Amino acid sequence: MVIAKKWVVVQASKGFPKISDFKLEEEKLRPIEDGEFLVEAVYLSVDPYMRAYMSRLPKNSTMIGGQIAKIIESKAPEFPTGKYIYSSTGWRTHSIINSKQLSDDMGLLTIILPDFGNLPLSLGLGILGMPGNSAYFGFLEICKPKQGETVVVSGAAGAVGSHVVQIAKIKGCTVIGIAGSDEKGKWLTEELGLDYFINYKTQNIEEELKKAAPNGVDCYFDNVGGEISTTILNQMKTFGRVSICGSISGYNATEVQKISSPYFTIVTKQLTLQGFIFSTWNHQWFEGIHANLKWIQEEKLKYRETVTEGFDNMFTAFTDMLQGKNLGKAVVKV
Ligand SMILES: NC(=O)c1ccc[n+]([C@@H]2O[C@H](COP(=O)([O-])OP(=O)(O)OC[C@H]3O[C@@H](n4cnc5c(N)ncnc54)[C@H](OP(=O)(O)O)[C@@H]3O)[C@@H](O)[C@H]2O)c1
Repeated sequence: MVIAKKWVVVQASKGFPKISDFKLEEEKLRPIEDGEFLVEAVYLSVDPYMRAYMSRLPKNSTMIGGQIAKIIESKAPEFPTGKYIYSSTGWRTHSIINSKQLSDDMGLLTIILPDFGNLPLSLGLGILGMPGNSAYFGFLEICKPKQGETVVVSGAAGAVGSHVVQIAKIKGCTVIGIAGSDEKGKWLTEELGLDYFINYKTQNIEEELKKAAPNGVDCYFDNVGGEISTTILNQMKTFGRVSICGSISGYNATEVQKISSPYFTIVTKQLTLQGFIFSTWNHQWFEGIHANLKWIQEEKLKYRETVTEGFDNMFTAFTDMLQGKNLGKAVVKV
């Protein structure tokens, strides 16, 4: 009999998550039935959306999340033993998956990982997975960047942000990135080719943006929301395009956030703002993965991962990521 370990949410977090909101438990798994397969987690993801969506979970649910796992037993021919999959089974070491239920409430799909060549399997959680497709489609389809334009990316050193920075460079744009430490700025400018870095914790974004983009901003890829985003919207050019990917600045808020209204600037500059969810492009999932894989192979796209060792450290990895301790994608190696 297989005994799974799992992280259970025992109470909705109020504000920043506490370890007492979670419990690490064991579960005896039943034998698999026809059409099912059993997987063992290899890498688990910790993502900001988990903080935003965990509040909706019924008490004592397994914490939500995606993982790369190995199929260790199968009664579903299309999912043979030995293959590696991505699935949103939650924070657990072993899971039984029904091959007829391959999509979750958020639209995350269970897939057999494509061949990444010599690249690590963990990339299926980041640059060659959901964050990678969010960057690829969310930036290209909504911002429609053109050569010579000026692009601002907030949350620029994270999984999605660092990827968008590089796509914008590939497209011939001038790119301004905003993140929370000078170490992140060094990586973005020295290794990823970012043109101008702004540390939102120590610098005045408005003043720095005026220096970096004196003629205004054409495209803004927004990972953070809040006051940072209003400041950027105020410095956009007429007909600027904004892709709204996330609003992490508010995910741990205990009260309604009060920010300066961007409406006057949206109207007078005739801006286009569009939010998106990655699953809009689920029908093009492998197109995004293969485009990003090709860029990595051509050395046009680089990646960093912040790897935490040990399933028992899921909570630490999660809260470290929420506090910005990650460079690139935050993952946990079982
Ligand atoms: N719409 C979609 O389909 C979709 C898909 C994937 C992700 N997202 C969203 O995209 C954003 C980035 O996700 P990710 O997976 O790439 O995460 P990530 O950027 O790798 O990690 C989160 C980062 O957020 C930053 N952060 C934390 N608190 C902040 C605050 N108050 N203000 C500004 N920045 C803050 C931290 O970096 P600093 O050191 O810079 O603070 C941290 O490293 C999130 O908002 C997420 O919800 C949306």
